[in-house]
Parts: sequence; structure tokens; C-alpha cells
Amino acid sequence: MANETALLCYLEKMWQDYCLLNPQAKSIFEAFAHKGEMVKNDHIALRTFNHPRLGINSLAQHFTKYGYIDSGEYFFKEKKLYAKHYENINKNLPKIFISELELEKMSPFVQQVLNEAAEQVLESQVNNEKFVYGGRPWKASHSVYTQLAKESEYASWVYAFGFRPNHFTVSINELKSFSQVSEVNQFIKSLGYNLNVSGGEIKGTPAELLEQSSTMANMITVDFTDGKHAIPACYYEFAKRYPMSNGELYQGFIAKSADKIFESTNKTT
Ligand code: NI
Repeated sequence: MANETALLCYLEKMWQDYCLLNPQAKSIFEAFAHKGEMVKNDHIALRTFNHPRLGINSLAQHFTKYGYIDSGEYFFKEKKLYAKHYENINKNLPKIFISELELEKMSPFVQQVLNEAAEQVLESQVNNEKFVYGGRPWKASHSVYTQLAKESEYASWVYAFGFRPNHFTVSINELKSFSQVSEVNQFIKSLGYNLNVSGGEIKGTPAELLEQSSTMANMITVDFTDGKHAIPACYYEFAKRYPMSNGELYQGFIAKSADKIFESTNKTT
């Protein structure tokens, strides 16, 4: 098993890539730091689709080798997604949440686009650990992106960005000057960022042991084969976990809440 220093370095590279696509996360992280907070990351989310060579396992292999363990699965019927989360033996390290689009449930158009994209990816690229923040390994056009978004916003995001962290998550439990999600939300709005209001600003309840909120993804200009276009990229998430009956904080996810969080990359205009 590779050592923890190498893992921390790996996670740092993912954070650097994420900040490139999501400068608002870096600004928010620094705003917390300015208040004396050391932001701890609750989880990192990655997106893919269930092509035999690009499914959840092809991304998870880069984390299981660092001691991450398959720790839960989730179903999103309406969005046609399946997800798993992975936990490290060291509970101070972020969880990894990986979702995949269920291709067989999509239209022939979506299947064809993503299968053709997958054919452009080499096995050696997938097996390189840089793959999870390597970006898009295929050519993409804005017209196809727009067409995909009509059927699945998620499919269009993966098509445009490929493999990069979709979001990082501030652990509210570890903040000193904030205890409620509503307080964090107020702080984020005071910095001038929009929150995802789908299903309300706060997703989940203390009874469900997890409350979450997130910003709306910022717009990033992407180089497509048919020109440069600004599209929603990544967002920052905030999570507060509650203790289970054994006193330990719940470490899983709530599908109903995650379903709404996925919409943080929807177009708002
Ligand atoms: Ni998340």
C-alpha cells in the first residue's frame, strides 16, 4: 500500500486542479482562513459513466491502493445515476464519492456520444493516477454538449470536463466559529456567492444525520471544437454530520439530498 504522504500529495494535486476550474472555492477557502479557520475537507466528488473501461472502479482503483474502502452505495433513479463512497482507514482524510451515469438507461444519442468518447481513451491513461484530475481525454463540441444537456445535465458535464474533481466539501463540524449550516450559508452569501436552492438551501435534516448546502457552479470558458463557450464548471459544498446512536458521526450520504446537490452544475440563466 502506498504511503500517506503520497496520498496527501495526490489529494493536493486534485485540489489544485479543482481550484483552477473553481476559483470561487479558493476564495471561500481563503475567506474561512481569514477568520482563523483551518478548513477540513469532508469529501471529494468525481463523476463518470458506466462504460466498461470508465466506470466507478476505474476511478476508485486510484484510491483503494491508498487504503480507501468501498463504504456505501446510492441510487438516483430519475437522474439515472449510481454512486459509491469510499472511506480511508484514517478518518481525518476526505471520503471519495464517485457517481456514474447508467448508459443503458439513456437515449441512443447519449450512448453513442459517450461510447465514442470512451473509445478515444487509452487503457494506460485510465490506469495512471493522474487520470482523476487529467481533464477531458476526448474531443468535444459545444453543439453536442448542448444536445446532451437537454437529456442529462450530468452527461453534458462529464462530456465537457472529463475527469476532474466535481466538488470538494467543507466539513462544518470542524469549523470553530460556525456550528449551523445556516450560519455558513449566510457567510457564503455575504461573500457574494449564490447557493443552490433546489430543494431548499439546506438539504437533509439532523434526523437524517447529514445536512448539506452548496454554491452554484461558476462559469468557465471551455475550448470546444466549435469555439470557446462559458459553461457551469464546479461548486463548493458544505456538510454537517450528526452522531449515530453509537456516538460516532454518520459518514454516509443521503441520496435524496445528493440528488439535489447534483443540480449545482445546472445552468442558471
Ligand atoms: Ni458532495
